[in-house]
Amino acid sequence: MTVLVTGGAGFIGSNFVHAWLAQHDEVLVNLDKLTYAGNLRNLRALAGDTRHHFVQGDIGDTSLVSQLLATHQPRAVLHFAAESHVDRSIHGPMDFIQTNVVGTFQLLESVRAYWAGLDDQAKQDFRFFACQHRRGLWQLGTRRACL
Ligand SMILES: NC(=O)c1ccc[n+]([C@@H]2O[C@H](COP(=O)([O-])OP(=O)(O)OC[C@H]3O[C@@H](n4cnc5c(N)ncnc54)[C@H](O)[C@@H]3O)[C@@H](O)[C@H]2O)c1
Repeated sequence: MTVLVTGGAGFIGSNFVHAWLAQHDEVLVNLDKLTYAGNLRNLRALAGDTRHHFVQGDIGDTSLVSQLLATHQPRAVLHFAAESHVDRSIHGPMDFIQTNVVGTFQLLESVRAYWAGLDDQAKQDFRFFACQHRRGLWQLGTRRACL
């Protein structure tokens, strides 16, 4: 079994990757653009771990994401990739719109197309988890908060 993680070189994502691989013996594909916020040193302890496949790329690159989905056939996508530094959004809001809105939409569309091709059981079992701003999660009353 395989899971696809986005933003797995960032703060929350890299901690998730370590926690997941400590508890699950399955392949984890880690897609991260390595912006100023991403840091491969966060993943240094996984060097040589054959379950961890790091791919540098953008969640909005639909051809790359579709290819990763088709190749690895994940049972779940866990989406942590984001522009998260609020102070930067004041000086450069376009990157936030591009990744948090457009990129997330493009990722969802790629995953939806992949999901549509799964068999009935795999469709039912498939999960898409998005870890976005905590206040939004709390307001929605969901139990899917990441903290
Ligand atoms: N840090 C917190 O305390 C906290 C709390 C609750 C929720 N969250 C949410 O969790 C998510 C991740 O937060 P974080 O603190 O880990 O952020 P972060 O900035 O540390 O990490 C974001 C990661 O996403 C990657 N990334 C950015 N744009 C990308 C793109 N277009 N394609 C692929 N990868 C891209 C970056 O390289 C980086 O590794 C955000 O949505 C944030 O709002 C964070």
